[in-house]
Amino acid sequence: MEKLLSDMALLYQKFRNYHWNVTGPGFMQLHKFLEDEYDALAEEVDEVAELVRMKGEKPLSTYKEFLANARLKEGDKDKSKDEMVQELIKDYEQLLGYLKQEFNGDVKTEDLLTGIIARVEKSIWLMRASL
Ligand SMILES: [Fe+2]
Repeated sequence: MEKLLSDMALLYQKFRNYHWNVTGPGFMQLHKFLEDEYDALAEEVDEVAELVRMKGEKPLSTYKEFLANARLKEGDKDKSKDEMVQELIKDYEQLLGYLKQEFNGDVKTEDLLTGIIARVEKSIWLMRASL
């Protein structure tokens, strides 16, 4: 769960980065979409971290720990709108793989991850359609 939590925390900030810095046609809609995504990620990061606590462990909690453990890469604010969207699609596709790797037979864990997977799959579709 440590790497998954780190990847999701990194993506939260990456969506904020692109929410702040994206420019170009369709700006208003994309700006709002990216906000919806980081709001969803903020909630999911919290749920994953609390699941770790419920298992009696302490979750990674600092930027330093997240950066050291994340497999995904931070955003570059100077990319074009389409480059940003394409990169976020790739990140979400990788995240889907990481989410599926965490399935462990525990009902609570699988229920949480299944909900995140369904949301991420829909967001990938929405981003693809916007290109
Ligand atoms: Fe904002």
